[in-house]
Amino acid sequence: MRTARPRHYLMCRPTYFDVNYSINPWMNPDKPTSADLALSQWKRLHDLLVGLGHTVDLVEPEPGLPDMVFAANGATVVDGRVLVARFRHGQRADEARTYLDWFPQHGYRDVRQADFQGEGEGDFLTVGDTVLAGTGFRTEPRAHEEAAAYFGRTVLGLELVDPRFYHLDTALAVLDDEEIMYYPGAFAPQSRSLLEERFPDAILATEPDAAVFGLNAVSDGRNVVLAQEAVRLAELLQERGYRTFGTDISELLKAGGGVKCCVLELRSGPTTTASV
Ligand code: ARG
Repeated sequence: MRTARPRHYLMCRPTYFDVNYSINPWMNPDKPTSADLALSQWKRLHDLLVGLGHTVDLVEPEPGLPDMVFAANGATVVDGRVLVARFRHGQRADEARTYLDWFPQHGYRDVRQADFQGEGEGDFLTVGDTVLAGTGFRTEPRAHEEAAAYFGRTVLGLELVDPRFYHLDTALAVLDDEEIMYYPGAFAPQSRSLLEERFPDAILATEPDAAVFGLNAVSDGRNVVLAQEAVRLAELLQERGYRTFGTDISELLKAGGGVKCCVLELRSGPTTTASV
């Protein structure tokens, strides 16, 4: 029987959701989008996570920053230490300000912006004591070293090669403190070998499940929330004892985002010690 650990998440309502620029192959500014539809899909996801017993905090969306709904990219938080993203593309650069303000206002003491380009939990995923870090499209290898030094954790670099899977969290999901699922085709051969060696029992997703962003999933160790179209992947998860919750992310996918992109995990609370 799998056990869920209550989590603390940060999300951002897609009030100003839009696709008016293209920084990944999913984004087509000529295709109509609906902020209302994005909002109802986001709300279902939000309510699902709250219903599962998790704490969900919110950051305020800002006009002119249509990708803010993808809060996972704003920072990486490990042991209550916060490394705020340095976005690769100018269109998203101003999002960092929100996180640089929010964390200190909520009691986090160790907060700083990364010196090197890196997009938060889009490319940095914590599994047990290790941090898996993507590179190839958004996050520079130097940002991996920076994260290792800042968090004092082992960082395992993984190279992404398929432009559809431009962030690590589009091709790999952490299920509990040891288990992951991923799509091998998204990784360079060397990174694939590394994953095979380190996670011999990982769940391997098929291309169709990866292509509907099934791996862009959120797990609390027992409950896995994922794109509803990833049917085969959901079955594999159920065979391993996970409970799955399929949800509609079709509107968010027009921006190249899904379930996990909307959810930043705050790992351990602020490092502030309570005053006596
Ligand atoms: N349009 C956004 C971008 O390209 C989508 C970000 C998706 N987030 C994620 N964690 N994969 O930056």
